[in-house]
Amino acid sequence: MILVSGGAGFIGANFVLDWLATCDEPVVNLDKLTYAGNLHNLESLQGDARHIFVQGDIGDSALVQRLLAEHRPRAIVNFAAESHVDRSIHGPEDFIQTNVVGTFRLLEAARHYWQALPAAEKEAFRFLHVSTDEVYGTLSAEAPAFTEAHCYEPNSPYSASKAASDHLVRAWHHTYGLPVLTTNCSNNYGPYHFPEKLIPLMIVNALAGKNLPVYGDGMQIRDWLYVKDHCSAIRRVLQAGQLGETYNVGGWNEKPNIDIVNTVCALLDELRPRSDGQSYRAQITYVQDRPGHDRRYAIDARKIERELGWKPAETFDSGIRKTVQWYLDHPEWVGQVQSGAYREWVQKQYQAAEATA
Ligand code: NAD
Ligand code: DAU
Repeated sequence: MILVSGGAGFIGANFVLDWLATCDEPVVNLDKLTYAGNLHNLESLQGDARHIFVQGDIGDSALVQRLLAEHRPRAIVNFAAESHVDRSIHGPEDFIQTNVVGTFRLLEAARHYWQALPAAEKEAFRFLHVSTDEVYGTLSAEAPAFTEAHCYEPNSPYSASKAASDHLVRAWHHTYGLPVLTTNCSNNYGPYHFPEKLIPLMIVNALAGKNLPVYGDGMQIRDWLYVKDHCSAIRRVLQAGQLGETYNVGGWNEKPNIDIVNTVCALLDELRPRSDGQSYRAQITYVQDRPGHDRRYAIDARKIERELGWKPAETFDSGIRKTVQWYLDHPEWVGQVQSGAYREWVQKQYQAAEATA
């Protein structure tokens, strides 16, 4: 049994689905179901006794303590977070509450649970914290990619809150000996990605005939990793990572945002051409830049490749094609997420605080 937090969100849901498809070990999935949590993502697990869904907050110490005592997981994988940079600029409070205070409370609950475990289980226990490359700040055009030794220079309320959580995790290892692992990953993309983030937003806006808003000059660079490759990296770190270590996870796919948007448009032109024969590129609109916008992220993933033998399975070309196709194949998911209808479905399906999905 493992406990996953935030397992109804984009990466967490992909992780739970992949985990149960590959490991056959039960999962307790603790998710608050904020706007970003969506039980539709886990619909295929309905009736699967290996998946125990619990709606709740990682900051609810009593609830987390009860779940740990009841299910006795051998590991905690912490995905739960507020994850969107623009939202953090608009309203940082939730980011501090969940990413900082929530992680602190989860660490404390984990520490007390771990300390009371019998020796063999104590030895085997792991707390894996899922973090981001944004904690390292921004890179100039010529600078080498972020290694694990790069200093922390977070620039947005989101990245500052994630940096704070990483520091707490590190401190709980050094001070209390909690067996922790941290992963710092680059930009994910793939199925179930909430359409507030660049790639899904461009796909759904393009199909809806709306503008494709490109911030500033569109030359900001991100490194892109297909979400299932992130999931395989987390599984590998959980299995073989060295305690107290951090692992950078990335796809060696540095791309300017405008190239991403053009690629999405080209794939849609091929797979679902506009009825007027024009390219979706006609919908690209340059808009005012994000405040404090980091110019470039790049991940040096050699440590996880060398020490743990992990490599991404997808290239950017194969991953982005699968992603665009997934959105074309799932208009009902997009419609529900955009209209908020899935909230009503959640209310109806999951009225009890705890249910097997
Ligand atoms: P997401 O916003 O799609 O999902 C977050 C999930 O956490 C949601 O299901 C939400 O309901 C849940 N949640 C939020 N607050 C909670 C709380 N207090 N208690 C319990 N559950 C709560 O996020 P994501 O993109 O899937 O990111 C998951 C994790 O991976 C985050 O920690 C994020 O910082 C990290 N990360 C994301 C990316 C990326 O590209 N998306 C890259 C690197 C790291
Ligand atoms: O690097 C990892 C991070 O990637 C994760 O830690 C975050 O949780 C995740 O949200 C993501 O952060 P970004 O800010 O990089 O992702 P976002 O999709 O919001 O933006 C990607 C780039 O595209 C960024 O440079 C801003 C730009 N952008 C974004 C949106 C939503 C646009 O130009 N237009 C847009 O409408």
